[in-house]
Amino acid sequence: MIKLVVFDAYGTLFDVYSVVELAETFYPKKGLELATLWREKQIEYTRLITEAGSQHYLSFWDVTIASLRYACQKLSLQLEGKQEHQFLNQYLSLKAFDESLHVLKELKNNRIQTAILSNGSPEMLLSAVENAGMSDYLNKIISVDDVKLYKVAPEAYDLVLKNFDFDKEEVLFVSSNSWDALGATWYGFKTYWVNRYGLPFETIGPKPSKSGPELGEVISIALS
Ligand code: LAC
Repeated sequence: MIKLVVFDAYGTLFDVYSVVELAETFYPKKGLELATLWREKQIEYTRLITEAGSQHYLSFWDVTIASLRYACQKLSLQLEGKQEHQFLNQYLSLKAFDESLHVLKELKNNRIQTAILSNGSPEMLLSAVENAGMSDYLNKIISVDDVKLYKVAPEAYDLVLKNFDFDKEEVLFVSSNSWDALGATWYGFKTYWVNRYGLPFETIGPKPSKSGPELGEVISIALS
């Protein structure tokens, strides 16, 4: 019986590559490369910091700035202060995927609780959630900032059970990031991997409980 569905934020409910359009206007024909490198470096920094220990913690907002600067330097792209500001603003109002809101509404209609568990800083998450009109359909927005360790540290996934009075088996964790779906499966949650781009799953560790090309199937899984 699933009682709670927990969503990852970036790449799962919100489309992080929507910054490509802005990047293209600043750097024609380099937008995709910049957005991709920015995202990869952002995740790499979260792992580096977590491996080093919480005394080295930097907020996801700071990690996002640092990784943007790195990506621009690596691609020899000039990043003016004003452009950096526009990029980061974009991050506060990312596009949600088409089906995200519908899925949250349906879960709520069926009395299934919902939450976000994200690496994102609390202010970043709140801004994206409000901008997408999701506030009324999420019971909680949980940030790993509370433990200052990024996913896939078990302490980050622990936050779900600290915030809700449910058992592990009653939680479905949904992520489009295969490493996050793996981390949550390792942790012991039932998992749904949203494989939007037809990628292979990680070749280490257990497979997710289920996967599919978008979020829609989460409704029937949660209700089954
Ligand atoms: C998050 C990143 C992993 O939202 O997408 O936590």
